[in-house]
Amino acid sequence: MHRLPEKGIAWEALERQMQAAKAQDVDWVHGRAAVYIHYAGEDVLEVAKKAYLMFFSENGLGLRAFHSLATFEREVVGMGLSLLNGGNDGRGAMTTGGTESIFLAVKAARDWAHRTRPVAGTPEILLARTAHPAFDKAAHFLGLGTVRVPVGPDFTTDVAAMRRAVTPRTVMVVGSAPAYPHGVVDPITDLAALAAEANLWMHVDACVGGYIAPFARKLGAPIADFDFAVPGVTSISADLHKYGYAAKGASTLFFRDADAFGFMAYDFDNWPRGRYLTNTLVGTRAGGAIAAAWAVMNYLGEAGYLRVTERILATRRAYEDGLVRLGLKVWGRPELGILAYGSERHDIQAIGERLASKGWLVGYLTEPMGIHLMLNLTHEPVVDAYLADVAWAMETAGTTAGTARTATY
Ligand SMILES: Cc1ncc(COP(=O)(O)O)c(C=O)c1O
Repeated sequence: MHRLPEKGIAWEALERQMQAAKAQDVDWVHGRAAVYIHYAGEDVLEVAKKAYLMFFSENGLGLRAFHSLATFEREVVGMGLSLLNGGNDGRGAMTTGGTESIFLAVKAARDWAHRTRPVAGTPEILLARTAHPAFDKAAHFLGLGTVRVPVGPDFTTDVAAMRRAVTPRTVMVVGSAPAYPHGVVDPITDLAALAAEANLWMHVDACVGGYIAPFARKLGAPIADFDFAVPGVTSISADLHKYGYAAKGASTLFFRDADAFGFMAYDFDNWPRGRYLTNTLVGTRAGGAIAAAWAVMNYLGEAGYLRVTERILATRRAYEDGLVRLGLKVWGRPELGILAYGSERHDIQAIGERLASKGWLVGYLTEPMGIHLMLNLTHEPVVDAYLADVAWAMETAGTTAGTARTATY
């Protein structure tokens, strides 16, 4: 068992040890990981790091002490809401990540449902097969059930199947913008109409898309409405530590109005130390994550986000075009920074194993069998290197289409 050292170790020695440990990690700096990282350039990283360090010790739990963080959070929420057509009634808060935002959206929907109707049995969330597992995790923790419906041939939610799945226990409908597996945006307008008809809470999971889709649309990408511009959308999760390029530990959860926002908080007023009221699941919040998000958003501004988005979309198209030229198939019609590809002829798992042998971190899709990529600016300079390795992998991998196997996120 590893034990606390008896005597402290000098920083210089620790730093060397940590550098050696880091050297064993995937080489994400050179585009080898198309997951976990969202890089928008050295300058953006520097701003995030400096802002994070400046507020390293401050605690986002104590906004009465740290007026700076309260201001940063209010302004981050304002900027996010304005990008997502939140209007004057929109409200929101910062959380530590997509999973926490989703957890709190589910909690809000559950409490809203309990307040507004008798729900017979376990309340249920309706969502597509492609929606993120954070909804199941939240449902498990919060005493709800999930009902997953199939996707159509374009990998977006089958709205008719969703409609058939509504029962008196349904309280919440989820759409993704985009869903992680294929990177395609669900038909939010149709889902929200269904939710409004049946008096259900409609959540849009824009954890991936929230801070890139608005800019992609401004650049002319044909992405259908997915935000508060769609009547019937109650809440939206959007992660700053993904395509917002903030430091990790930063997401936003938005609500259409103050009534809906009221269901986010937890208020406990029976404690010797006084009233404990938080919007978030966590108590203590890293001041650095709040400060870094604020700094990066202001550093990039609309022009900066547009510039980065344009490059990421061009990189995705370069991957798509190259893969198609090699005879592979891109699944669905990716709209943002995610794409997944496969083959009806080649053993995609064998291709993946060969790519892994060249240092690429490979993420697999299982429905249909494929390889998954979530791109950022580290991928821009390695498009040709990646495609060359795919071509080599195809030559040596054999031509039997692989059967679906399990994959780790
Ligand atoms: C669509 C979607 N929602 C939610 C999440 C969860 O986000 P986090 O890992 O920040 O908790 C992810 C993560 O990739 C995602 O892709």
